[in-house]
Amino acid sequence: MPLDGSFRTIIEPFRIKMVEPIRMTRRAERRVLLAEAGYNPFLLRAEDILIDLLTDSGTSAMSQEQWAGMMRGDESYACARSWYRFRDTVERIFGFEHVIPTHQGRAAEALLFGTLVRPGQRVLNNHHFDTTRANVESSGGLPIDLPCPESIDPATDHPFKGDIDLERLAQELKEHGSSGVALVMMTLTDNTGGGQPARLANVQAAAELSRSHGVPFYLDACRFAENAWFIKLREDGQGDRTIPAIVSDLFAAADGCTFSAKKDAFANMGGFVAMRDSSVARTERNRLILTEGFPTYGGMAGRDLEAVAVGLEEILDEDYLHYRIASTSYVHRSLDSAGVPLLRPAGGHAVYLDARRCLPHLEPRQLPGQALVAALYEEGGVRSCEIGTVMFGRRNPQTGEETPADRDLVRLAIPRRVYTQSHMDFVIEAVRRVYEQRDAIEPLEFESQEPVLRHFTARFRRPSSRAALEAEVS
Ligand SMILES: Cc1ncc(COP(=O)(O)O)c(C=O)c1O
Repeated sequence: MPLDGSFRTIIEPFRIKMVEPIRMTRRAERRVLLAEAGYNPFLLRAEDILIDLLTDSGTSAMSQEQWAGMMRGDESYACARSWYRFRDTVERIFGFEHVIPTHQGRAAEALLFGTLVRPGQRVLNNHHFDTTRANVESSGGLPIDLPCPESIDPATDHPFKGDIDLERLAQELKEHGSSGVALVMMTLTDNTGGGQPARLANVQAAAELSRSHGVPFYLDACRFAENAWFIKLREDGQGDRTIPAIVSDLFAAADGCTFSAKKDAFANMGGFVAMRDSSVARTERNRLILTEGFPTYGGMAGRDLEAVAVGLEEILDEDYLHYRIASTSYVHRSLDSAGVPLLRPAGGHAVYLDARRCLPHLEPRQLPGQALVAALYEEGGVRSCEIGTVMFGRRNPQTGEETPADRDLVRLAIPRRVYTQSHMDFVIEAVRRVYEQRDAIEPLEFESQEPVLRHFTARFRRPSSRAALEAEVS
């Protein structure tokens, strides 16, 4: 272990130099605010949140070195100093020859799929995340998830639930070949599947299979360092290796990657797509100029390029990764011992509540995940995110019928370097209180929704309040 093994207490490996006050709210106030926001926490004002676990994306606290980098940012339009620092850092860590900067991960996805996917082609992944799925679909592709069988049951423990199912991958590749499969991707860690890691050996085997069918293999690298830490902790033969060595092996297997710097680069904005193939790079650069900006800044300011370059170095620190993964599993362990149904084991960046098992009195069409999200905000001012029927279910535009997702989870995503252990203790208490009152949690239904990525903007209502309103009107 990187920290002195004789201490049981794991401390945050940083001190706090600047603080951001939290505005205290009361339950009665929160009930009104949530109803006004259509029971969708994405639509709540951030100042009305006590602990914000909506996402770990873009919400990190930057270090003093990152802020110093911001001041050094070179804002020249073309070929700025900050670009070379960014590019060289990405090349050194990930080993790709071509680096294309974007304003965030989904812009990298749009460039990649817009270039590689032809209408009707499949994209295979352990699990597409929401923006990844939406970008494949908007390029005319068919996103197919191939999670490993061990990941299907949220209640069972398995160290590498983020593995791709190699048997199904082989079948898909055999059946559809390079004309039918545009690319294979693996998401590290698997956010949709519970922040679960993939083995290095699984990534290498998937890459080999893809290569043998002439299909490009890419990594969705948002949480690459957290995945690498799990590999070091759990994979046979990896325990004595350094994080940069594991990272280097992961990316040596791939033809390229997409990256949102808002996760494992501690940046508030930024991303890139990187690859070895120069003709793919050329097409993507041309698209980049059209949509994001000149190829040496893409969608980022010089100061963002600096912050990402510094963050990418900091994330590889083993003391930090040790603390990070231990603090997530602390929340998981505490909720687990209180009997709250969870996706097991703890993810890297988040703890996922199993809403269907928490609220067995609600059918999937009654949106148990969203109902739990609402209850958690009302009870403790904690903002969380549904990953279930609201995010991944589908509405038939003709009949209006809802097809639920495979599972209904509530993600408590932990921003990097932002909250202390007492904040997490408060979250644990809030979840326990909600779980104790679970039988009283009411269902929700859609009031309005958009056809793409509906969870961001949808509005909901409680059927009981609709019924009351209808009675009043009649
Ligand atoms: C696995 C994964 N891929 C891609 C993205 C998209 O990144 P961004 O939000 O920067 O567009 C996310 C964001 O949460 C993600 O978790």
